[in-house]
Amino acid sequence: MARRTQNMLKGSALPALFCLALAGCRGCRSGEGETYPANLAYPPRMDWIVDQLPTQSPEDADKVGDMDEPIRQLNQHGGRSYDPAVIPENLRNELQAALAVHFGEPANPFIKAEVESPIPPENLLTGSRLFRRQCLQCHGLTGDGRGPTAPWIAPHPRDFRQGVFKFVSTNGTGSRKPTRADLGKVIANGIPTTAMPPFNLTPEADRERLIDYVTYLSLRGKVEFEILRKLAKGGEAALDGDVASEADEILMRELKGWAFAEKDIMPVTPPALADDSPEMADSIRRGRDLFLDPKGAGCVTCHGDYGRAGKPQYNVWGFRTAPANLTEHKRKGGTAPEDFYRRIHGGIGPSNMPAAASLTENQTWNLAHFIRALPNPGQLPDDVRKAIYGP
Ligand code: HEC
Ligand code: HEC
Repeated sequence: MARRTQNMLKGSALPALFCLALAGCRGCRSGEGETYPANLAYPPRMDWIVDQLPTQSPEDADKVGDMDEPIRQLNQHGGRSYDPAVIPENLRNELQAALAVHFGEPANPFIKAEVESPIPPENLLTGSRLFRRQCLQCHGLTGDGRGPTAPWIAPHPRDFRQGVFKFVSTNGTGSRKPTRADLGKVIANGIPTTAMPPFNLTPEADRERLIDYVTYLSLRGKVEFEILRKLAKGGEAALDGDVASEADEILMRELKGWAFAEKDIMPVTPPALADDSPEMADSIRRGRDLFLDPKGAGCVTCHGDYGRAGKPQYNVWGFRTAPANLTEHKRKGGTAPEDFYRRIHGGIGPSNMPAAASLTENQTWNLAHFIRALPNPGQLPDDVRKAIYGP
């Protein structure tokens, strides 16, 4: 009997059991994760609202294990954050009702706005099942980035409710939206150096539904965030109309932002320079000069010693983010020349990395060439290599 069980476990039953344990799904085929219980409602947001970040950079990194304390503490460092519990209950109830009208509940997600929804409800239903199975433990039921594993993961899983993303290919700076392709890339490739895993083995059709559902959670969360922020700051008087009309308005604005992103991609044309050409060596040298010059690109003010001694920054979620160590190989947002160009020209707004938008295209490429070569000493011109890595 024991032998039989053992054999069974070795055979086909093992993957099935594993799937059941991991996923809680009836079958392991794509899109067949169980749906949420019909009576489950999205819980109201009770974690604190970040309104304004301190102007001074933080001294050190956050401690892991507590996601609330760092946000509350912003108030002691010259920033501002609010406890949603200060908002009168009737207004919070109005907000919950407005969110239910526009977005439904986990087992019945939809987007209801004055315009036709860009995402049909059947896509969201599939997306919600997949999300429940593959993302929930980190990103949380509402996309708050506060799933059961989240406090112990550094950097913390992303909170989608602020409506901003880091690794985007769109024009502009600050709170620009990602394209579907940007989200697709992050989901397929994961985010190297963080806990965000690659889902490249998940069928592409399923990844499309995950993009839908992340977009949906971000829209919902943003409506909730903006209204709570106004109410916490200035009470009902801070709203332009009432809670319901404010929700309409924010949703319409956000939908426009997401649609606009698809048409507003930052153009990038890498110059045709061979890696081993003298022109490339020259470009790398100029890039390093710009990097180090406080009146040039000033990268060194945060990426001290090329990022080996980076100065932590507050990110828009109120947590602390270390500037990347640029002498290491792995990059979060890709290592193609156009990824570097976009990161530098557009910045990483949510992490307080400014856009170097005033540099010429040529200067931006010099920096991109330098950053790309930096972790590979063999690709650096001799003088630059010695200055960075020693003789
Ligand atoms: C083990 C934890 C974990 C799981 C599981 C996980 N993520 Fe993440 N995810 C993260 C972390 C951590 C980050 C933030 C990394 C950072 O900020 O540098 C992140 C960030 C993201 C981002 C933000 C990208 C950007 O450009 O700002 C998206 C989108 C995302 N995850 C989607 C998903 C989806 C969809 C799934 C499920 C298919 C998923 N994640 C599963 C941990 C996880
Ligand atoms: C005000 C501080 C600040 C300045 C100035 C700054 N950065 Fe950053 N940079 C950051 C932070 C913080 C991160 C980490 C972002 C994250 O992981 O969320 C970062 C990350 C990066 C990354 C990694 C992107 C990835 O995909 O992993 C690159 C490349 C980079 N910076 C290049 C530059 C260059 C080049 C300059 C100068 C033009 C510059 N930075 C100026 C703060 C700064």
